Amino acid sequence: MFEKKIKDLISKTIGIKNLEIEIPPKQELGDYAFPCFELSKKLNKSAQEIANDLAVKIKKPNFVKEIRVLGSYINFFIDYNSISKKIINEILKEKNNFGSQNIGKNRVIVIDFSSPNIAKPLNIGHLRSTVIGNSLYKIYKSLGYKVVGVNHLGDWGTQFGKLIYAYKTWGSSIELKKDPIKHLLDLYVKFHKESKQNSKLDDAARDEFQKLEKRDKKNLELWKTFRSLSLEEFKKIYKILNIKFDSYDGEAFYNSQLEETLKLTKKSLNTKISEGALIVDLEKFKMPPFFLLKSNETSSYHLRDLSAAIYRLKTYKPYKILYVVGCEQELHFKQLFTILDLMKLNKDKFIHVNFGMFSFSDNTMSTREGNIIFLEDVLNKSINLAKKIMADKKSIAKNDNETAKKIGLGAVIFADLSNDRNKNIIFNWNRVLAFDGDTAPYLQYTYVRCLSILEKAKKEYKLTPDIKIDYKLLKEDSEIKIIKDLGNFKNIVIKSAENYKPNIVANYLIDLAKDFNEFYNNIRVISNDINSTKAKVALVLCVSQVIKNGLNLLGISTVNKM
Ligand code: ARG
Repeated sequence: MFEKKIKDLISKTIGIKNLEIEIPPKQELGDYAFPCFELSKKLNKSAQEIANDLAVKIKKPNFVKEIRVLGSYINFFIDYNSISKKIINEILKEKNNFGSQNIGKNRVIVIDFSSPNIAKPLNIGHLRSTVIGNSLYKIYKSLGYKVVGVNHLGDWGTQFGKLIYAYKTWGSSIELKKDPIKHLLDLYVKFHKESKQNSKLDDAARDEFQKLEKRDKKNLELWKTFRSLSLEEFKKIYKILNIKFDSYDGEAFYNSQLEETLKLTKKSLNTKISEGALIVDLEKFKMPPFFLLKSNETSSYHLRDLSAAIYRLKTYKPYKILYVVGCEQELHFKQLFTILDLMKLNKDKFIHVNFGMFSFSDNTMSTREGNIIFLEDVLNKSINLAKKIMADKKSIAKNDNETAKKIGLGAVIFADLSNDRNKNIIFNWNRVLAFDGDTAPYLQYTYVRCLSILEKAKKEYKLTPDIKIDYKLLKEDSEIKIIKDLGNFKNIVIKSAENYKPNIVANYLIDLAKDFNEFYNNIRVISNDINSTKAKVALVLCVSQVIKNGLNLLGISTVNKM
């Protein structure tokens, strides 16, 4: 929390910028330490000597209780009594807005996330993009950025030729209405099976897609139906997860701009025909070619993404454009960003927010047609398991479906977001739903624990949230630890935005909850000492508020009983 301030303080004193300070491993060594070894080389003096000289020169600010030299380090001890008042007051005043900042003022961030493919179910792979994107959306918004959430639907491409062919050959309008995604997926799977035996089917599908690109009336009508029925299904899941988008402009939206993009590309880059396709050679960058048009002149995923990038630059004038897409598409984005760079189109604004794979630790998740795990099945399973656990624990919320839903969804979302997004996730049902692990249910449980303390305090002492407190009474180690955590929250939010990593918030919340539970297990919050009770209750209230605000940034709800 004071890292920057301490760095500035030392910089100012010695007139050297970009210094590194450390966080000592033990409280006896203070809160921050400045090692003098580097300076020793520069100044040709012993590190210890430098530490001694420097410590005298530094003007101690109010928030520092003591500056002490220990060996070759200058150690800083923060005066948490003076800051606990500031932090607690701020949290009690700002409540649900605590953590909000306006560093992003006047800046637009476009986030391309979820982006499923029409006629296919939202699968477990899309879960990652959906929850990471949604969390980054909330994090940036809380920092004062204007955020545009775009669901770049996969609603164009050769697969529609296959679907249209399959529907015309084997489809049923009744089945389609009844369960659109299931029927379309069945047709897709059937097409693939049949086309293995009969290669003519692929040609027929290509013809159908070509007709669609040329705006054939019948094909366009089928496409529209597939799109709107699928989108309705997707929206049902977004509703369960409480996720909204500002735009559903998918791949098809850019069709009318492809011509213009081609012109621009041809003007600024060397394009060439290779085996009938129009490409930009990227051999120089050790990458396969960027396809603009395929050999039968149909448009490519590349070209549509290039158009989308140009459109987004023009329309939103963004500070950054984030693509929350899995590692399978790493090459695609490298190619796209290289082309944008060659076209001098602000490559630095474009960020691929990459993530690893998601799999289940055991065979607890059965696949449906086409070997796909449906996201909907995963969410339902989690909610049902949450119900079962609450029944087993004889929880007071055991028949409360709303609570079970929040716990079940929270568990799945947190299992994803608490991992560094670049790592692969192996999902284990027992672990993600444990009330005592690094899980959402643990955080929700801690929140409920806070509520019940507050409830009790209200009953016994009629304490209301606006309490005048003697902050000096919060002096135990476990209390100071919590105050430090609370004071860190804002930095954590910034750090997680800067790295596009919601796990920074998620892990912070686990640490906060652990520190809180240690406090709770060792210290009596409600006692005969009214002043001490008041101070501790304020601390508990702050913890509950920050857990709530932090979970909200992850797209997870708190519950009031468990
Ligand atoms: N529809 C793609 C898929 O499901 C993801 C699209 C990501 N966004 C983009 N602009 N390419 O794999």
